[in-house]
Amino acid sequence: ATVYVPRDSAARSVGADEVAQALQQASVAGDFALDVVRNGSRGMLWLEPLVEVVTPQGRVGYGPVAPEDVDELLAAGLLDGADHPLRLGIVDELPWLARQNRVTFARVGVTDPLSTEDYEAHGGLAGLRAALELAPADVVAEVTASGLRGRGGAGFPAGIKWKTVLDCADELKFVCCNADEGDSGTFADRMVMEGDPFMLIEGMTIAAHAVGASEGYVYIRSEYPDAIATMRQAIGIAREHGWLGRNILGSALHFDLHVRVGAGAYICGEETSMLESLEGRRGMVRAKPPIPAIEGLFGRPTVVNNVLTLATVPVVMAEGAQAYERLGVERSRGTQVFQLGGNIAHGGIVETAFGITLRELIEEYGGGTHSGRPVRTAQVGGPLGAYLPESMFDLPMDYEAFAAAGAMVGHGGVVVFDETVDMAAQARFAMEFCAEESCGKCTPCRVGAVRGVEVIDKIVAGTHRDENLALLEDLCDLMTEGSLCAMGGLTPLPVRSALTHFPDDFLGGRRLLD
Ligand code: NAI
Ligand code: SF4
Repeated sequence: ATVYVPRDSAARSVGADEVAQALQQASVAGDFALDVVRNGSRGMLWLEPLVEVVTPQGRVGYGPVAPEDVDELLAAGLLDGADHPLRLGIVDELPWLARQNRVTFARVGVTDPLSTEDYEAHGGLAGLRAALELAPADVVAEVTASGLRGRGGAGFPAGIKWKTVLDCADELKFVCCNADEGDSGTFADRMVMEGDPFMLIEGMTIAAHAVGASEGYVYIRSEYPDAIATMRQAIGIAREHGWLGRNILGSALHFDLHVRVGAGAYICGEETSMLESLEGRRGMVRAKPPIPAIEGLFGRPTVVNNVLTLATVPVVMAEGAQAYERLGVERSRGTQVFQLGGNIAHGGIVETAFGITLRELIEEYGGGTHSGRPVRTAQVGGPLGAYLPESMFDLPMDYEAFAAAGAMVGHGGVVVFDETVDMAAQARFAMEFCAEESCGKCTPCRVGAVRGVEVIDKIVAGTHRDENLALLEDLCDLMTEGSLCAMGGLTPLPVRSALTHFPDDFLGGRRLLD
């Protein structure tokens, strides 16, 4: 029998390794053949460790499985997909998963992340093969036509960025993948690197062909040891198979890839700061222009894209721009990999076309709060994103619609809070976070964030409240307008949204709940 037990670090953190070990031990003790495959996670995090058994009807899931459940499950007929209180049914048919439109995440949780056979059997390399048949400019045109925008948060059209790099005449160009994923409540990049690393390698290789780059770097945060190890292994395997290196898949393309590890600074997720770090310096933000597409790593034209952006390129090339562009709304095309976290019953990955509302995500997929108390707010797009009140939950997930509402879709992270949240404390935290993580290069951010904490404290304490509220407004304006990068520039977003939608929380004292 073949049994799948995830190797994803979210699953490992709740005992997946021990479950896999218990299964192996039981097969030795019971003298029966068992093939335990370590897959990525399906993204239904409340069901981890999710054990899947291959049956003639499909893969049957059991979860969450504890190591001590293993003997009982085997006795009940786990290997035949038999009934048991932990039995969930055919995994592909579970409503939470079946309703999604898994395009980028199609293989994540399904395949063995380091098996090249599995990868190719599930559509891997089709995108690269298609791209290698085309001239670089035609690959760029295809990516542009797909409407794919930067999934790191800013949503800049990927094809237009690539065209800027392609149009530079330099002989040496780079492709850099930003895998710093520092935003709280985001974990999709990690799940790609742990669950389907060849997809990222394939996407970066297509980018290299499209822009004429010969070298690439994946910059991964040090907090992701599993992703680092898996990416390194995958790169080694890809080299052995001729998927990286010289004459890739028999073509004229030469491209190699290296992993670089960050050292814990949030600001190294900002693209120019990441380039400084890759060059071996302290992660300080560079002034733009010049943009990295023209003068990036070591001063050379460089594609800097987020993991999800690059990981989506293979499917765009394999299935064609139109198939991708057909999904979504307005200028937000294709799918977004939403990440549900915080105080939520069913946290995890929801990949759907843009246009889904926040309410559908939180109520229908998320199942409300984990605490069972009413939802009060959700912060969308990371720690620099706005807090939205329940009255705005019908907003569709669309970059422009969110921006018009004073919020941002960002990387697609949704962090849910119940009615016990203190929004003045959340606003203070935004300023505190900025003060802690500021690179210090510009005054509005370096000094502004420290002053921001002090002013919020005075407001809550009731000290010259009106004057200090006006001062906070003024400070937010200054940080938005005068900061060199998004760190200082976006910190006012959570602060202002908390003030606008939850003014009573700033009146001092804890809110009284009914
Ligand atoms: P930006 O709007 O300045 O730039 C977006 C991208 O487009 C950059 O890569 C820039 O170099 C590129 N670009 C701009 N004009 C171009 C042109 N003509 N040709 C080619 N490329 C061009 O935004 P920025 O500062 O890079 O990112 C801010 C965003 O980062 C925020 O909106 C936020 O959502 C997100 N963010 C994400 C985090 C995460 O963990 N994923 C953490 C913090 C912020
Ligand atoms: Fe550095 Fe903050 Fe200025 Fe960005 S806004 S350059 S993080 S000081």
